[in-house]
Amino acid sequence: MELATTLTSQTVQNAIREIGINPDYWYPVGWANKLQPGHIMPVTIWKQAIAVFRDTGGKLHALEDACAHKGVALHKGQIQGKHLLCPYHGWEFNGAGQCVKIPYLPETHKLPCAQVRSYPVCEKYNLIWVFPGDASLATSIPLPEVPEFDDPDCLMVPIPAHFQAHFTICNENTMDVFHGFLHKNLQGWFDPVLTSLKTTESSVHADYRVSYKGVMTKILGLSDRGDEVTTRTVSLHYQYPHYHSSLEGVSSLYLMRSPMGAAETKSFTLMFLRLNLPKWLVQPFKPLISAYVWRFLFSKFLDQDIEMMESEQRTYSNNPQRRYVEINPAIIALQKVMMRQYEQYRRKTLSSQLSGNQQEESLSLSEAISSGRVESS
Ligand code: FES
Ligand SMILES: [Fe+2]
Repeated sequence: MELATTLTSQTVQNAIREIGINPDYWYPVGWANKLQPGHIMPVTIWKQAIAVFRDTGGKLHALEDACAHKGVALHKGQIQGKHLLCPYHGWEFNGAGQCVKIPYLPETHKLPCAQVRSYPVCEKYNLIWVFPGDASLATSIPLPEVPEFDDPDCLMVPIPAHFQAHFTICNENTMDVFHGFLHKNLQGWFDPVLTSLKTTESSVHADYRVSYKGVMTKILGLSDRGDEVTTRTVSLHYQYPHYHSSLEGVSSLYLMRSPMGAAETKSFTLMFLRLNLPKWLVQPFKPLISAYVWRFLFSKFLDQDIEMMESEQRTYSNNPQRRYVEINPAIIALQKVMMRQYEQYRRKTLSSQLSGNQQEESLSLSEAISSGRVESS
């Protein structure tokens, strides 16, 4: 559906900062090359603590990070072959989460039925992905497509980030191209104009026209001359729960979000650049250039964004009743998608758990929250 791009005043209702995720998607939890065989990585996806481990054969597994015996964190344990051993009494769990051995139980005794939840897990684009929702859906839900990953002409810059802010605040920051003001001292973009806005049940697509000027425009291949204003289109595509943004064939950004809790979010970003530098110079030094571009250029943008997002979160946490005004329709469209996804999941969970009157009551509560969420003023 095509939406109007006119900037109009909207009052944002704060229920958006209280929503949870729809877990029936793949979420990134860490860089795959950082988890060696025989090691365990503790991760959190929306309040679920998960122990991801790579067995000695190199295969990944993801188990609930709480032992079936006494709830001790399994990520403190150790790997033996294909199994994870709890640090407390050494109970041994396989990749499916079944307890397959208790070291002090005589072999003649039957093992108790002790099981921890296991999660679908995979690796792609040097990222580890976990599916925290209904495991039976995992194979039918695709991972984001990142075609540049194998493109030898692209320089890939992996960008990890960790914010003390609700994921909706982080997602709004990405959709909000009007905040170029914040980055003006870094030769960021200026004069943004929202030119197109489309939405579906699970996505928002926004095009903005933006201008650049300065030496960076030359290095990034935006223009042959840094001293002139160059105007380009930035396209942002939010396909719940992740982003892809591109700058007219010059750069591409895959921004994978990993909400951890009510005021904590991680993201794993893959940025691809087609640098305006000779290939013979770029090719042998790709990892070095990538680290340099990140450290001395984009990390500064990110630091400025983090400061803003965490400030926004603190104000919200101190006074959840406070009202805010938004004028960018792309932000409102984004909020609606995030809210809709959460509500869809809530409805699905409620209908499978409750029956009759109980279900009616809970759904009408959910509708009441949802109907007062965003109002035109
Ligand atoms: S708490 Fe894990 S083995 Fe006892
Ligand atoms: Fe920014």
